[in-house]
Amino acid sequence: MSVTVVTTIAEVRVAVAAARRAGKTVGFVPTMGALHEGHAALVRSAAATSGFVVVSVFVNPTQFGPKEDFAKYPRTLEADQKLCGEAGAQLVFAPSAAEMYPERSVTFVEVKELDAELDGPARPGHFRGVCTVVLKLFNIVLPDVAHFGAKDGQQARIIRQMVRDLNVPVEVRVEPTVREADGLAMSSRNRYLSPTERSTAPAIYRALQNVKARALAGEIDVARLESALHAELAAIPGSRVDYARILDSETLQPLPRLDRPALAAVAVFIGTTRLIDNVLIQ
Ligand code: PAF
Repeated sequence: MSVTVVTTIAEVRVAVAAARRAGKTVGFVPTMGALHEGHAALVRSAAATSGFVVVSVFVNPTQFGPKEDFAKYPRTLEADQKLCGEAGAQLVFAPSAAEMYPERSVTFVEVKELDAELDGPARPGHFRGVCTVVLKLFNIVLPDVAHFGAKDGQQARIIRQMVRDLNVPVEVRVEPTVREADGLAMSSRNRYLSPTERSTAPAIYRALQNVKARALAGEIDVARLESALHAELAAIPGSRVDYARILDSETLQPLPRLDRPALAAVAVFIGTTRLIDNVLIQ
C-alpha cells in the first residue's frame, strides 16, 4: 500500500481532517524511525483498529542527554516509509526539529513520581522530552487511539498517566514486546551491536525470564530477586548493568516483597550500546 510522507504540521492537519470527513477513525504510532518488526506490529495493530493510520518519524532531541546517541541515532526514512506502507499506514509525518520546536519553545510536560526509578534517574530529562513531544504529536495528529510498545514499559506507564492527568482525548494501547527468535527485544539500537555482542545480548531476556521463574516458584523477597537478576546480567560478557529493578508495575515504586503485580525492568550496556527490556510478574 502506498503511504504519503509529509513534513509539516499543516499537511498532517489537512490529511487527518479529510480522513475524519470520510468517516475514518485515526490511529497513531509515534516513532523515532529506524523502524523494525516491532514497529510494524504496532502499525498493523493500528490499521486493524483505525481506518486512517499516521506514523510519526522524528528523532526527538529533547529526550536525549548530552552524552547520548542523538547524533548517531539511525535515520532511515526511505526504508521506514516502505515498512509503514506495507504494514497498513496511510501517512508518515517526518518533521524537522524546527517544525516541532520553533524558536522560543519554552513549555515542557513533566509527569512526577513515575520517573523516580529506572530511566528517570538514569537519563535525567528523558521523560520530560518524551512527554513533551508525545503531547505535541497528539495535539497535531488528534488521534483516537495511540499505540506504544511494552518494551518501553516506563514510557508507556508515564504516557498513560499524562493522558489521564491532562484529560487528553486519546486511547493509549500498549502492545506486547516483539522479540527476535532468540528472545532479544527488537530495538532500533540493536543495529549498533557487533556480531559478538549480538550473540550475547539475548542473555538479557533469559535473565528476566529466570527471575520471573524464581518469583513464580515462590521467591517473594525482592532484594534477593534483584540481586540474582543483577548478578546474571553482570555475568554477560562485555556487559555493564545500568539497573536491574523489580517495582510495583502500577506505581513504579520499590516494593519489599512480591505481593502485587510487578515489573522486572533492566537497562544493560552491551559494549557501548544501552539496551532495555522488561517482563511483567503477576
Ligand atoms: O518510543 C519512542 O520511540 C519515543 O520515545 C517516542 C514515543 C516516539 C517519543 O519520541
